[in-house]
Order: sequence, then C-alpha cells, then structure tokens
Amino acid sequence: MDPATLIPLADPLPIHSAWFDVLLIVTFTAHILFMNAMLGSAAIGIVKTIRGNDQLNRDVGQKLPPLMALTINMGVAPLLFLQVNYGQFDYVSSVLMGGWWLGIIVALLISYYGFYAYKFRVDNMGKATRNLLFGVSIIGLLYVGFMLTNNTTLMLVPHEWKQYFDGAKGFLNLNDPAMPPRFLHFMVGSLAIGGLFIALLGQWRKHNEYITIGMRWFTHATLANLLVGVWFLISIPRDIMLKFMGDSTPATATFIASLFGVVMLLSAGFRRKPGAATIWSIITVFLMACNRHWLRTFYLSPWFRVEDTPVTNQFGSLFLFLGFLVVGLVAIGYMLNLYFKAYDRRA
Ligand code: HEM
Repeated sequence: MDPATLIPLADPLPIHSAWFDVLLIVTFTAHILFMNAMLGSAAIGIVKTIRGNDQLNRDVGQKLPPLMALTINMGVAPLLFLQVNYGQFDYVSSVLMGGWWLGIIVALLISYYGFYAYKFRVDNMGKATRNLLFGVSIIGLLYVGFMLTNNTTLMLVPHEWKQYFDGAKGFLNLNDPAMPPRFLHFMVGSLAIGGLFIALLGQWRKHNEYITIGMRWFTHATLANLLVGVWFLISIPRDIMLKFMGDSTPATATFIASLFGVVMLLSAGFRRKPGAATIWSIITVFLMACNRHWLRTFYLSPWFRVEDTPVTNQFGSLFLFLGFLVVGLVAIGYMLNLYFKAYDRRA
C-alpha cells in the first residue's frame, strides 16, 4: 500500500500558510516555557522533598495551578494553528493513537485536581498523602508530554500508519529511534527552566538559597541536555541531520543561532544572573522551536509542502483574529496587574 493514499487532502487556507507557521512557533514557545516551569519546578520540588526538605515543594506548589492553566491555554493556540497547516497529518496520528491520545484528558484532570488539592489543603494532609498526590500529578504530566511527543512524531511518518491495517488499534510511535531522545530533550529542558523559575522566585522574594538551588539545576540540566540533544540529532534520519549541518542554509543558521543562545544562557546561569538567563532562555527556546519547525518540514517533504496548499486570500478572519488577539492581550495584562497588586497587598 502506498502510504501517500492514507493522507487526506489539504483544505484551502484563507491566507498564506506562513502566518500560521509563525503563530504556531510563537505560541508553541510560550506553551513549552510554561510547561517547563510547571513540570520542572514540580520535579525539583519532589526531589528536595525526598531528600528531606519539603519547604520548596510547598512554595512551588502554590504556583502550580496557575502555571498549569497557562500551559493548557497556551497549548490550545498551537493546537489550532497546527491543525490549520498540518491537520491532515495531525488528525490522522491522533486518531491512530486512539485511547492513548484520549487518555490525555483523564491525565490532565488528575494532575490539575492533584495540584489544586495540594495548594489549598497541604496543611490538612499527612506527609505521605500529600507527597503521593503530588507524585501522581507529576506522573500525569509525564504521560501528557509523552503522548504529545508520540503524536507530533507519528504525524511525520505516514509509512508507519500502515500498522493500523495490520490490526494495531491505538498505537504509539515506538518504532521511531528519534522519539525517546526527543521526549527526554523536552523533559531535561523542563528541569532547566524549572530551576530558572525557582531562581526567579528566589530573586523576587530575596531568598538566596532558592537562587542557588535554581541556578544549579538550570546549568546542570542544560549541560546534560547538550548530550541528549546530540543523541536526538544523531537519531533522526541522516539526510535530515545533514540539513542542520550545512545542507540547508536556513536550518543550519537557526541551529547555530540556537547553540549560541545555549552558550549565552549557560554563561548567565554560571554568573548567577536569573534575569539575563531568562531572556536568553526565551530566545533559545524560540530558536529551538524554529529548529523543530524545520525538522517537521524536512520529515514531511516527501509527502507534502505547506506552500503548495491553495490559498483563497480571504483576509476577514485574519483581521478578526488580530483584533481579538490585541483585546485578549490587553485583558491578560490587566488581569496580571490585578493579580500582582493583590499579591503585594497580601505580602
Ligand atoms: C499540561 C500538560 C502538558 C504537557 C506536559 C505538555 C508537553 C508538551 C510537549 C513535551 C510537547 C512537545 C512534543 C514534541 O514535539 O515532541 C508539546 C507539544 C504540544 N502541546 Fe503540550 N503539553 C501539555 C498540555 C497541552 C495541552 C492541554 C494542549 C492543548 C490543548 C497542548 C498542545 C500542544 C501542542 C499543539 C503541541 C505541538 C505543537 C506543534 O507540534 O507545533 N499541550 N506539549
């Protein structure tokens, strides 16, 4: 069977695909940064608890429900843009994953509920109960992340979709050697950004120990992630790997720029400068998201080029979207302002 026959036809786009690709990359960067801060700080908190000090976990636990809400909200945006440009791949991989994919909703509910209960009832629970609740919530997040890596990689390999016709009902992308390092790359990145989040918390509260703990996790996890990144790079098909090593100028330029970002964030990290480290982290995660975009383009190139999707040039929906975006950003700015004012009054 020719796998190309399994790919649904692309629907026409109202405006050029580049709009959706840019919005996809930008919103995905925000999604991943919030996800990293949430999962990473929760993981560091539980490690500290296991080592006998649960104060950090309690402090971080106060931040997890809002961080989770932001992660989920910032996940919806890239999901929509992904479906616009690559829906004929992403819908298929979601359906093929079946129950594994739907299980995300259950996992999200469990994790969300767990973090809420921890935040508001931490003092009413026994040590074992609260740590179990926290641990289960982290496992839920790991499940969600793992399923997303499976989906975003399964959508790239239509030749693997044939497993469905061999009787596989609901399967993951486990044949792909790039899937484990890709997932690990995101998880180790979470420890780094989670550490940075703790350091920022320390800076805000003038709590030196948190800056030390946070920056240590930030730098050490980033160094470890350099190794995971090399594993990831050599696990992707050779012709695609070579695109990042000179065969494609934009991909190579993005890759070099992102490595420069890593050097800068590490330098800020070792100098214990959470502010500078944050700026370089945002730049680097954005550039890594661009690398990831090139990767998707190269994987899909035998099957599909997004530039070939017909465009109808109907700008009405774009103007509506931009209008709501501006109003939405102003509303979010206003709400954040209220939040911080309320926080200052309590402090
Ligand atoms: C709260 C727990 C979540 C975690 C830990 C998480 C983690 C991740 C990770 C690790 C990836 C990267 C996968 C890869 O490229 O290998 C990812 C991508 C993505 N996530 Fe999330 N996510 C979470 C929630 C959500 C939710 C609730 C949504 C949607 C409503 C969402 C939407 C997306 C989308 C659309 C992508 C892929 C974007 C693209 O391919 O360009 N995520 N997420």
